[in-house]
Amino acid sequence: MLIHLAKPWIGEDEQRAVAAVLESGQLVQGPLVERFEQSVAALVGRTHAIAVSSGTAALQLALRALQVGPGDEVLCPALSWPSPAHAIRVAGAKVRFVDVDQDEWNSTAEALREARNGNTRAAIVIDQFGNPARAEQIREALGALPIIEDAACALGSRFASGPCGSLGKISCLSFHPRKILTTGEGGMCLTDDDDLAEKLRMLRNHGQLRGEFVVAAGNFRMTDIAAALGLAQLQRLDEMVARRREIAALYRDAWGGEIDLQRTPDGSESNYQTFGVVLPQGHDRDTVREKMRERGVEAGLLSFAIHKLGSFAGSEASLPIAEHLAARGIALPLYPQMRNNEVEAVVRCLRGVLHE
Ligand SMILES: Cc1ncc(COP(=O)(O)O)c(C=O)c1O
Repeated sequence: MLIHLAKPWIGEDEQRAVAAVLESGQLVQGPLVERFEQSVAALVGRTHAIAVSSGTAALQLALRALQVGPGDEVLCPALSWPSPAHAIRVAGAKVRFVDVDQDEWNSTAEALREARNGNTRAAIVIDQFGNPARAEQIREALGALPIIEDAACALGSRFASGPCGSLGKISCLSFHPRKILTTGEGGMCLTDDDDLAEKLRMLRNHGQLRGEFVVAAGNFRMTDIAAALGLAQLQRLDEMVARRREIAALYRDAWGGEIDLQRTPDGSESNYQTFGVVLPQGHDRDTVREKMRERGVEAGLLSFAIHKLGSFAGSEASLPIAEHLAARGIALPLYPQMRNNEVEAVVRCLRGVLHE
């Protein structure tokens, strides 16, 4: 039997909620999408929430709403799933990659400030793997520069100053099954700005504003089926995050300095969307993952040095920490239904592979 990297927690509440939507006949952009938006906005303390079809869609719409386009540059951490950097490219702007901190695996205020130049129009700030970025320092370092917070992984995490999702002029969430709560595919933009909220609602819905097609835009709406799932999951968010923290604490105690782990800034709290470990020198990441799989544990790639991907071929950027973490990092199984004996089995498995 394989211990999986991640597993969405879908119970009877979700099944009943989805069945009720199917019976209602109102499948798209109906009352549940609005309820889901209001619930998440209240949870994160934002004025507006705009539900969309994925976290990637949320980033693309955020950049468009902020009128980022050709000639502009946008700062983007180099260690991540490629969505934020791809979204900048899709907007026609240039990605200015920024390296990440060795311990926290997020870009620091200082690195973001240094990377900024006269063409910088916005910064994407990521709470990577649910670990809060240093929000207060970054806000101070970037001043009036619009921040898009990529909180795809960070629902339920907290900065010292408040919930993740509260940092950006626009903050973006993902509800992909690897995330803290899932709607299948899904995402959300959060903002306190009335005009941006109106623009985002218009951009997700074919560019329609009060019944008129005012700009050319696609369809990025969320279904009521997805929102029903999200609302049911939201009831268990605290329980899911609490259990994730318990499992992460077991992993932390087990490794106790033996392996490099992601550090959470003092005063902040991670939701542990992903639990990464950086393999010590002398261990090949792919061999370790293969051996773990043979022994019944699925370990994932931790993340990507985005500037090294084919979609950025020709990039000469050198971002050594992102490259190091991407090359040597693996993600260990972590999901709320995981039992303690499974956590112990993962620890034994990795230890066995590293010490053989
Ligand atoms: C940091 C980050 N941003 C954006 C996304 C994209 O979210 P989605 O898969 O919902 O498009 C992901 C997904 O893994 C992510 O990890």
